[in-house]
Amino acid sequence: MPNLKIHHIGYLVKKIDAAILSFQKIGYETVQDTVYDDIRKVNICFLQKDGYRIELVAPVSEDSIVYGLLKKYKNCPYHICYETDDFDEDYRSLTSGGFTAIDAPTPAPALQGRDVVFLTSPSMGMIELIRQPDGSS
Ligand code: NI
Repeated sequence: MPNLKIHHIGYLVKKIDAAILSFQKIGYETVQDTVYDDIRKVNICFLQKDGYRIELVAPVSEDSIVYGLLKKYKNCPYHICYETDDFDEDYRSLTSGGFTAIDAPTPAPALQGRDVVFLTSPSMGMIELIRQPDGSS
């Protein structure tokens, strides 16, 4: 079984600055300034509260990969990201075990260029896998 640790909860928002203010009002602190991800055409900001890390994701244009999701779900949590110390092996075992990769593993500018990949399961919805920062895996 993969040894996965929860890294963050991804939260779709329409307007990132307004969302940051609202999260701050209920006690979240920003842990990283907003970063533009030009691969996925989204703005991303990380916030934290009680040890939980939340990733705000706001599409900046209609050809963003999450624009359709935002139209459908409005502001809402939409994925949990899991950190793995054996990214390649876990990616293989999940994709051969019922999960479907939405895209190929790609560096995430908002996460120091660490590889991430999104996977879906018919019974679970979407998850994200992220490679450990030391690149040893
Ligand atoms: Ni994420």
